[in-house]
Parts: sequence; C-alpha cells; structure tokens
Amino acid sequence: MNPSWTIESFLELENNQLYINGVSAIDLANEFDTPLFVFSESRIRRNIERLKRAESKIDCSLKICYAAKANSNMAILRTVKDANCDLEVNSGGELWKALKVGFRAEQIIFNGTSKEVWEIENAINAEIYAIQVDSLYELSLIETTARRLEKRANVSLRLVPDIETNTHSGLQTALMSSKFGMMPNEALEAFHQYKNSESLNLCGIHLHIGSQNPEVAPYVEAFRTLFENLVQIYQETGIKLSHINLGGGFPVNYLRDDSHEKFIFSAAEREMLAADYEPADAIEKAWKIVKESANASNAAHLLENITLLLEPGRSIISDAGICLTTVRNKKERPVDEINDAIQNKIDFKNRIINLGETGVSFGFYNLDTWLLTDAGFNILLSMETYKWYYHLISAMRAGESHDYPYKLAGPLCDGGDVYFDIESKRGSRLPAYRLLPENVQPNEILALLNCGAYSIAQMFQYNGRFLPAVVLIRENGTVELIRKRDVYEDLLTNDVW
Ligand SMILES: Cc1ncc(COP(=O)(O)O)c(C=O)c1O
Repeated sequence: MNPSWTIESFLELENNQLYINGVSAIDLANEFDTPLFVFSESRIRRNIERLKRAESKIDCSLKICYAAKANSNMAILRTVKDANCDLEVNSGGELWKALKVGFRAEQIIFNGTSKEVWEIENAINAEIYAIQVDSLYELSLIETTARRLEKRANVSLRLVPDIETNTHSGLQTALMSSKFGMMPNEALEAFHQYKNSESLNLCGIHLHIGSQNPEVAPYVEAFRTLFENLVQIYQETGIKLSHINLGGGFPVNYLRDDSHEKFIFSAAEREMLAADYEPADAIEKAWKIVKESANASNAAHLLENITLLLEPGRSIISDAGICLTTVRNKKERPVDEINDAIQNKIDFKNRIINLGETGVSFGFYNLDTWLLTDAGFNILLSMETYKWYYHLISAMRAGESHDYPYKLAGPLCDGGDVYFDIESKRGSRLPAYRLLPENVQPNEILALLNCGAYSIAQMFQYNGRFLPAVVLIRENGTVELIRKRDVYEDLLTNDVW
C-alpha cells in the first residue's frame, strides 16, 4: 500500500524513493544540491482549477487573485498568469514584479496597511483593478494623490468585521484587535464623503478573515457581512458596488499522512492543520445563504452584475512546493524525559505507550539521535514564528516504515533552529520527535512536504547561508531552474564597504 502522503501523478513512490511529477527527488538533489525547493507546475494549475470550480456554484462572475505574498518568484508568477489567474499584491515591489512579468493592470489588486505615496502613485498610474484601502487616512491620501495625477483611482474598502476563526492567532486578520482594515461604520462614512469624488471610483468592499481557516462557517459569516454592508451602502448612498472581495485563507491539509503524528497534536491543532474542504463548497454555502436573504429583502438586484473576488495564496502554492534537505551531521544525547513530558502536555509514560501502539517503544531508547540538516528557519521561517508543521519523509527511503524517533534541527547558530518546540512552557505545537526510517546517516536526503507558501518568500541569508536554488517541474516533465543558488558575491549585495 502507498504511504498516505502520496498523490497520484504528483508525489509518488518509486524504487523506494520520492518522485515528484515523475522526476526523482534524489536526482534533483544531486544535480542542484540541497537545500532545494522543487515546485510542480501541474499542481499549481490543478489548485487554481480547483478554486475556479466555485464559479459554477454562484450566479455572478468570479475573479481569483493569487496572493503574491505567498510566493512571488517570477517563474511562479508567470505560471499563475499562464493559468489565467489574476493577482493580489501587497507592496509597490510586488506590483512592479506583477507588471514586469506581464499581468495586465485590470488583473491586479493592491493590499497593504502602510502604503507609501510612491506605491499609491504607481498603482493609480497603472490603473489597476482596485487599491484596497486600509483606513480613512489612507483613503484621503489616495484621493489627493489621484487628484494631483489627474486620474481616478479604483478603490475597495477593507472592513474589519470582527470574525474569529480557529486558525493560529498570528494568522487571524479580521478581529477588531488585529491591525487590518476599517470598521464598517467608518467605511459607510467614507462612501458618504467621497460618493461624488472625481478622483475616486468607490467600486468595492473587501475583507480577509485569516489564513488556514479550518471551518466553512466564518466564510458564510464573512460573506453575509459583505452583503449587509453592500445593501447599507446602496440604501444610504445609492452606490451600487461592482465587486465584493472575500479574501483568501482556504486551508491546506498538512497532515495528509497522520499515521504517526496524530497523537502528538491537540484536537484543535489537528483540526486546523488537517483542514480539508473544497473552497467551492464553502463559496456555494455562503452564496446560497446570502442569495436567500437577498431575495427575502428585495435586494437581489445588488448581486446582479457583481464580481466576487478571492485572494488565495496558500491553497494555490503550498502543496506544490517540496523542500529537499540533506542530513549533514548526527549525534546522540541522553533523553530529556522531563522536558519532553512538559512539551507534550502529557505524561511521558503515556507517550511511550501511545508510541508503542504505533509500533515504536521509546522505552528502549535512553539516547536521543539528533540529525542536523541544511534547512533552517532562514528558509522556512514559519517553523520558527508559528511553529508550523511540515511533514517530513526520507526521500531516499520513502517506502520504508518511518517509525524511528529523531530530534531534527537546522544548521543555524540558534538553539531555536529546531523542528520542534523548545519552549516547553508554551506547550508544543510541533512534535518533539520526527519519525524516519531506522539508521539515518549523514548524506541521507529528506523531504519536507507542503513547503511552497510563505517559505522562499520570507527567506534570508542569516549566518551567511546561501539562499537555495529553486526548480520548477513543467507540465511536460522538463525541470527548469527558476532561482539560482546564491554564490559568495550574493552575500555582499548592497553592502557598502
Ligand atoms: C489580505 C490578504 N489576502 C490574502 C491572503 C492570502 O491568504 P492565504 O495564503 O491563506 O490564502 C493574505 C494572507 O495573509 C492576506 O493578508
């Protein structure tokens, strides 16, 4: 039987090794060295098609704007564009990249909490689909900038609807206590104030409830909030909006292979990491409920000719990216039972029994085996900031049972550069041990799965580490280098000395 991390025609097991779209992960690691990020064009396209299915469930048009912040490598952006997907950018830099790679202005929306005048000018001059406005102050800045440029800016106001989701607290973005957006009454005031403006085209409203949202209900609530605001804005100002934007946040199942991890996470944590529903189903449910209330209140005409925008990042790029890493060092240490017991919030002996049920008995080990890899938090920052879980397998012995416990760590000089949670008082978000085949030695190549989102977009050269190469496996099976590995000179870029 295939391991549960396999995905037909994408992640497969051949000759005991990991194959990605038919290409040997080991061959890739040998050719390009590690750490290496490997992306799949066919998986990106499949993920976009999956999101587009929502269009058949609603009576209005759908505009999917890939959130460039998740991964804005130029070849990835081009792949997204070629799959007929539009784009959300979060800075003047991302806007520049978007235009450079060939996105048309009407394909682009621009988010951000701290936009500078030059960024606003560039967005207005390019005549993008919408600048998403974070505050009343920012709206006035956009208005004066557009007036000075003798242009009309398309704007969509970002609401903070105070909706909570069951995701990680750092990924919540729609709470009143978060830093984003404006309160609905402020937005209404803005529609009143600027409804006759020649410099502003008030065309939409927007919200984003957070990332990796495990449940559908908050989307229903968010859609209802958008609709209620749409109605109120129309009733009070006569403005008929042309679009509403429900944001991103559709989840990725990080625990597809939960064969040995399920006992480690709390129920809520597991629910969040293993969330797995069709975005189209969430949209269908939200649309149905809103349509019913629109019909009941004679407001259905406000949904005619409207465009629904989505801004998915993670759900397009996360599972399309794999990080290959090599074990560079190995050592043994006495087991820290007390610390592990605290970390796991359960009695250490129970953990032994639990592990025993999965075929592993820690009782036989009094030494921890440490594996030190070449992939640290400088290339997978979420592993440190959010203690994010990336499933780990041996790419060289992918078919062997993964039932031997290891302490895993990266190459950086920080004690926190580990694949587990060292801060025991906080409770563990990451497993204290990773399970791999027995007798892993230096030079074995491992693979971290679902690493495509918020990884290479956030990497940095800490400790003078060369940023990794990135390859893209095209639909026709060819492997393209889409980011060169750093060389010495890259460590000096922009240093003045
Ligand atoms: C405004 C906005 N839209 C979209 C996204 C993308 O979210 P996700 O990658 O979870 O789909 C984010 C991510 O933080 C965001 O802040």
